[in-house]
Amino acid sequence: MTPCNKTLVLIGAMGSGKSHIAREVARLSCVPSRDIDALIVAQCGQSVAAVFKEKGEAEFRALETEVLRQALRDGGIIATGGGAVTQEANRHLLCASGVPVVYLRATPETLATRIRLQPGTRPLIDGDGALNHEQTVARVGEILRQRVPHYEFCAQHTVDTDGRTPRDVAQEILDALKKPGPID
Ligand code: S3P
Repeated sequence: MTPCNKTLVLIGAMGSGKSHIAREVARLSCVPSRDIDALIVAQCGQSVAAVFKEKGEAEFRALETEVLRQALRDGGIIATGGGAVTQEANRHLLCASGVPVVYLRATPETLATRIRLQPGTRPLIDGDGALNHEQTVARVGEILRQRVPHYEFCAQHTVDTDGRTPRDVAQEILDALKKPGPID
C-alpha cells in the first residue's frame, strides 16, 4: 500500500463517532480513512463481537496493536477502537508516531444513546443486550472514568461531539489542524 503523507488519529470512547468522522475528514481532505476495528474484522473474517467471544479480549488487543502499527505506517485518517488507549503499546505507538491525535469527547448520555442504536456490537458494554438506557449510561460512565486520563494523555486536541454532525466535527478538526496550538 502506498503510504499517505497526511495522517491523523482519532481516539475516544465507543459511540464518540470516530469511524464516521474519520470517513468525513478523509473525504474532505481526499486521503484514505482506516478503521482499526474494520481492518481487524477483515483480517479475521469475524465481527468484533465474535472475535471477543471466540478469541478473547487479550487476543483482540494484540491484533489491535498490530493493525494500528500498520495503519500508522500506511497513513491516512485513522479511527481507533475506544479501548486502544488502554494498552501501553498503543499509547507508545501514538506518542512516538508524531502524528496529530484528536480526542472525540462526548457525555455518557450521548455515548449510551448512540451505542444503543447498534445493539450487540459492543461486547464490553452490553454483550447480551440486557442493559436499559440508565444502566448503559452508568456502564459508559465507569469506562470513561478509567479511560479519560489515557485519552487526554495521548491527544493534542479535544473536540466535543455532543449534538453535532460528523461533518461539522470533521470541519472543526481540519480547521484546527491548520492553526498552531491546541484547539480545546
Ligand atoms: C472497544 C471499542 C470498540 C471495539 C471493541 C472494544 C473498547 O470500538 O474496538 O468493541 O474497548 O472500547 P468502537 O470504539 O469503534 O466502538
